[in-house]
Amino acid sequence: MSGDGNLRVGIVGCGGIARSHGRAYAADPRVELVAVHDVSSAAAQSFADEVGATACDSLADLAAQDVQLVSVCTPPGTHTDTTIALLELGVSVLLEKPPTVNLADMDRIARAEEANPGAVFVVFQHRHGSGAKRAHRLLADGALGAPQVAVCETLWYRPESYFDPEWRGNWAGEGGGPTLGHGIHQIDLLLHLLGEWTTVDARASRVARPVEFEDVATASVTFAGGAVASVTTSLLSPREVSRIRIDTTGGTLEVEHLYGYADADWSWFPLPDAGTAASNGADPGLARAPGAPEGAEQDVWRASAGEDVPSNHAAQIHDLVGDLLAGRPHPTTLASTRPTMEFVTALYASALQGRVVDRGDLTPDLPFYRSLDGGLSAEQVSDRMTRV
Ligand SMILES: NC(=O)c1ccc[n+]([C@@H]2O[C@H](COP(=O)([O-])OP(=O)(O)OC[C@H]3O[C@@H](n4cnc5c(N)ncnc54)[C@H](O)[C@@H]3O)[C@@H](O)[C@H]2O)c1
Repeated sequence: MSGDGNLRVGIVGCGGIARSHGRAYAADPRVELVAVHDVSSAAAQSFADEVGATACDSLADLAAQDVQLVSVCTPPGTHTDTTIALLELGVSVLLEKPPTVNLADMDRIARAEEANPGAVFVVFQHRHGSGAKRAHRLLADGALGAPQVAVCETLWYRPESYFDPEWRGNWAGEGGGPTLGHGIHQIDLLLHLLGEWTTVDARASRVARPVEFEDVATASVTFAGGAVASVTTSLLSPREVSRIRIDTTGGTLEVEHLYGYADADWSWFPLPDAGTAASNGADPGLARAPGAPEGAEQDVWRASAGEDVPSNHAAQIHDLVGDLLAGRPHPTTLASTRPTMEFVTALYASALQGRVVDRGDLTPDLPFYRSLDGGLSAEQVSDRMTRV
């Protein structure tokens, strides 16, 4: 920490999302954003001027600015080497999603984390809004009943021109398709809320876009807790929506938004009839908000409402800075995101091998452990993804 007890931070990769990190750090009086770095020195200098930080020529120069935490905001394929280099320079890392482009890289970072003093946290901002925190707590406590059925949708629209940049639309540039790059936000939240997944039965389809991977993926998922879910990710959906719906023995919990939710985007529909709920063995019951008079009972969801914190970078960075300064563990660790990367890996393995993939199949012997195309040729991938 700096002399006045603030956290000294840096940012690597000075493109689009670095601006969200820069704004979140600037808004937090406990933080000093001191240094930035980019392979393009022009990009680094113009971002440094914007945020009032020093532009550094290398990761070593950045670490020499006595930073304790560095946001890695570079393209996915560069995350692993950049993060390992920063760990070896003695700093902690806030790594943008997707943490890596395969499980092998994720395990390389985990080994570097083990061998060095710093820690790695991953940006999954939708875990950090007040709605997801309430949902996570109430589901874990059983207060909303037991999850039985879930739907997880990332229905977005990207025109052909979106894939014009050379690095887009191909395995080499992106590491994976929209399941890795776009749907992963909703998939991570679904898994965060429902716990251990067990099997994935998926189809990845290339319906319309000029890409090497899918533009639509659908999957059936089972969970250790007994729930089943369907997961759809599409880049062909003009009315865009990001949605998670969880039907429990006590009611329906739902969040519908696009790139970030507030409390108003969440809803809870309790079983309408308490007798029916009781016969399911899990009456969600009624609860009174603290201090509310008798007769002012509300359902458990309403009764748990507190400060409305939207799910954005500021929400996660606020939590992370507070945890680091207080010496508390921060929950969104690299390890906590491995189930999400395992799910993404299983989806591609299932779709490209045409079988149900069990969590236990994801060993280093599986080709998909090292690359999400499973080492298949472009023709083999095309054959599988475009077969009708
Ligand atoms: N959490 C979110 O909601 C969210 C939203 C958008 C993007 N992202 C993620 O943020 C990351 C960056 O995406 P972006 O849209 O800002 O990309 P971008 O192309 O706008 O910016 C990336 C920057 O990194 C620089 N760069 C590339 N390789 C580098 C290296 N090895 N070392 C240093 N700098 C390097 C580039 O010059 C560029 O300035 C990706 O992982 C992406 O998935 C997350």
